Amino acid sequence: MILLGLNIDHCATVRQARYREAPASAGGMVEPDPVTLALLGERAGADGITVHLREDRRHIQERDVWRLRESLATRLNLEMACTPEMTAFALKLKPDTVCLVPENREEISTEGGLDVVGNRARVKACVDAMNGAGIQTSLFIDPEEAQIDLAAKLRAPIVELHTGAYANAYFTPHRAKEFQSLRLGCVRAHELGLVVNAGHGINYVNIAEIRALPHLHELNIGHSIISRALFTGIDEAVRELKARMNPGK
Ligand code: PXP
Repeated sequence: MILLGLNIDHCATVRQARYREAPASAGGMVEPDPVTLALLGERAGADGITVHLREDRRHIQERDVWRLRESLATRLNLEMACTPEMTAFALKLKPDTVCLVPENREEISTEGGLDVVGNRARVKACVDAMNGAGIQTSLFIDPEEAQIDLAAKLRAPIVELHTGAYANAYFTPHRAKEFQSLRLGCVRAHELGLVVNAGHGINYVNIAEIRALPHLHELNIGHSIISRALFTGIDEAVRELKARMNPGK
């Protein structure tokens, strides 16, 4: 079974579009509530909830994360920048996992994953702090051998391979090449003892191919599920994607 990490950032994006300035003055009408969505998503079969607390707080807010920490029945995966401030926040919050993602141009590798090679000392400091606190770190990286090898060397237990380049190439002649590099990345990470997750740009169509990647543990999916939920509701949107991830199971 491939697990589903439901990313609810874009529920908060819709809320912030209206209530960024004056949430307190709107009483109980502040909507939509990402925590309610997360609980409904869990009930529909999501195996964990993912949120990205960005430094600019453009969607998820600190209060959302604390409420999720208190109310989730599954796992909380906190995506965050690799900074001392966010490391301190995660040590207080104690999510089940943190996923280190790039937020600035300089931290980004070829296709958009975290450049672990170019930010080795900072990544090591964060992974060490999390390992010391019993929080598992996932590194969101491109499927490149140098990034994967260093993730293992720095003792990060999990990698999330960036599927964005593949998703962007889906309707182009480059798709097979991108899929092959994801496949090789999964094999390499597994050989090194890493748990292999993947995410970004996965949807109801490309899941048919993505699910064939070897050694996949969990997929983190947000935009496509939130978009589908506008028409079907979150329950059906989650159930349908999970069924496509694991047909016949
Ligand atoms: N994984 C990571 C590390 C992310 O930052 C995101 C959000 O951009 C996702 C997965 C989910 O991507 P999407 O919203 O395209 O499904």
